[in-house]
Formats: sequence, C-alpha cells, structure tokens
Amino acid sequence: MNLFDVYSIWNIELVKAKGCCLYDADGNKYLDFYGGHAVISIGHSHPKFVKNIEQQLEEMAFFTNSVINRQQQIFARKLGDISGYTDYSLFMCNSGAEANENALKLASFKTQKKKVLAFKGAFHGRTSGAVAVTDIPQYSSPYNLTDNVTFVPLNDVEQVERELKSKEYSAVIIEGIQGVGGIRIPDGDFLKNLSSLCKMYGAILILDEVQSGCGRSGKYFYHQYSGIKPDIITVAKGIGNGFPVAGTLISPEFEPVKGTLGTTFGGAHLACAAGIAVADVMVEENLVANAEKVGDFLMKGLSAFPQIKELRGKGLMIAIEMPEPVSEIRRKLLFDHKIFTGASSTNIIRLLPPLCISENEAQYFIDVFKKMLI
Ligand SMILES: Cc1ncc(COP(=O)(O)O)c(C=O)c1O
Repeated sequence: MNLFDVYSIWNIELVKAKGCCLYDADGNKYLDFYGGHAVISIGHSHPKFVKNIEQQLEEMAFFTNSVINRQQQIFARKLGDISGYTDYSLFMCNSGAEANENALKLASFKTQKKKVLAFKGAFHGRTSGAVAVTDIPQYSSPYNLTDNVTFVPLNDVEQVERELKSKEYSAVIIEGIQGVGGIRIPDGDFLKNLSSLCKMYGAILILDEVQSGCGRSGKYFYHQYSGIKPDIITVAKGIGNGFPVAGTLISPEFEPVKGTLGTTFGGAHLACAAGIAVADVMVEENLVANAEKVGDFLMKGLSAFPQIKELRGKGLMIAIEMPEPVSEIRRKLLFDHKIFTGASSTNIIRLLPPLCISENEAQYFIDVFKKMLI
C-alpha cells in the first residue's frame, strides 16, 4: 500500500529528537524553530514525558469512557490550575479540529441556533464543522459548504455587531492569534468588544487556543491579555507535546447532557499521562515565562533588520513577513544551516519553537537569519 500523497514534504527522515534538536537518519542535527506546527511545548522526548507515558503503558493504555478514569480527573485539575480556569469543565478528544467541532456543537445545542460567525483568515481544522469556519476555500469540498457561516474581517467591531444584532448566531469562533493566517493578532480592545457583543446578543464565544494556547503567547492563553473569559476554549497541540491530546474547556453555564458528546479514544489513560507530564513540566520549568522572555528576545533581535517587511508576534508565535517569497530562505535555513521553520502563504516565515528554547538558541537563529539577508 502507498501513502496517500497529500503532503508537500522535505526530503529528510528524522529519527531522533531531544529538547529543541532533531536528528536525521544520516546523523545531522537540526534546530527546531517550528515545533512540528506549534506542537512541541516542553521539548522533544522530555525525560518526565517519556517516564510518565512508559509508566502508564505498564499499567494500562486505554479503556473506554464508560468507566471512571482517574487520570482524566488529574489532568483536568492540572489544566484548570495552570490555565486559571478551575471552574470550567473539560471534555477530552484527540485533535484541534475535534475540539472545535465539540465547541460548535455545544454552542448550537445550548442556543438551538445554527449560524456561526467566523473571521477572514481563520483556520480551525479540517473536519466538516471546523473547515466550514476556516477561511481557506481550497480546504473545503462541496460537501463542506454551508450557509450557516459568515466571515467578517478580524478587528472589525462594526461588522461583528451588524451580524450579531440579528440574534441568529449560535456562536462566534476566533483564534487567540491567527496562526495559519500568518500570526495576525487581534487589536487591543477587539477581544473585549467581541466578548461584550456576544453577551449582548446571546452568542457563545469560542476561543480557539489550539495554536496560541499552552503558554505559547507568554500567557497560558492569548485571550488572557485582554482579561475576557470566553464561554468555551479549545486546546490541542502543545498540551500533549506530540501525543494526541485535545480538549474543550466549557464554562459552568453549560449543563452536560448525557450522550451529546462522545469519542472512543479521547481522554485515554495514555493521553492523560502525556498531558499530565506536560502540565507538570510547564510549571516546574516556568515555560510560560520562558516563552515571553525568549519571544521578546527574538522580536528585539529581528527588529534590527530593515529587510523585513513586517514583524508580528507575541511570545513564541512570530511571523517574519518578507517583501518577496520566502521559500528560498527557508530552504537555505534548513539545508545549509539545519534550522526548521514554518511558513504562512508565500512571504511569511512562521517561528513556533518549543517553549523551552533558550536565548542562546534564539541568538543563533538571529545570527543565521542575518547572514541570509546579506
Ligand atoms: C488555531 C487552530 N485550530 C485548529 C487546528 C486544527 O488542529 P488539528 O490539526 O489538531 O486538528 C489548528 C491546526 O493547525 C490550528 O492552528
């Protein structure tokens, strides 16, 4: 059987990873400034992560959600503590898209409405509901097309209000920071205004923190910079550090109704072991603060280069927008200097390194990038 060839891939086979470094089959060492799409939080193969998963595997890997799973309770408590959302409930699943599906369904169950307001440039995943609120037409098949979703420009309060006024909307879904869209950060008071409008017109506010969450922005969730409390928050990526762990954080305003949500694999014992290790290490190694510190360091270092058209970022979620396509720079960074980076559209390099990246590693990146520009 062949693999279904839908990914554009680099001709590199990685066989080992440790901390912020990756190693290929020929023994070459790479610096990870991408974290595999913002997934690596506490660092590759962190000893505590490996030990927790190994220990859990010795005990048991999985049983269905029809029995008590103490590991889920422990994970939920730790996630509540680390995020400050101790009064919210957690529904566990396997991916960011699934977390968003559950959020959209919960909002619709509660309001008994169908329509969702989403934002231009948004990415929320590939499954039917998630791709319907994603503003990238080529990711949607005719089957995914729906009249239930309206897209408005990010930061346009007037257009948001014009739509929500109709009171036809079940939910508004927004990324903390748009990731795939090129690290687009909501303006100062936009999230605050959005939260007030949702309350005023009875729409559920869903904050997709799949990419911008887990401390990446320098706060546990990006929206915490604006002091709002969304009705629902979705998480994935960093909270499992590479193990598929995702979840929907649900405000106390929602009554759970048996059978309305469900999953076979979500919240498996093994997934919880991964999530618990990540939450512990995030606290023990102060990784939210490190994301803020090294993020500031990178932004300061990169702001010295006038060749960059625009530099955007918060914490370790950074876009370097160039005036021309970046494919050649990224190819050189990878093959000549052994640094993995990400991209957004043609002209943007996306930096999403593990949250444990050091200032020395950041300085190394800045020095190499400087060489690329001369
Ligand atoms: C903001 C956001 N939401 C949702 C997703 C989808 O997550 P997953 O690929 O785990 O389904 C992503 C993935 O990149 C994302 O960046």
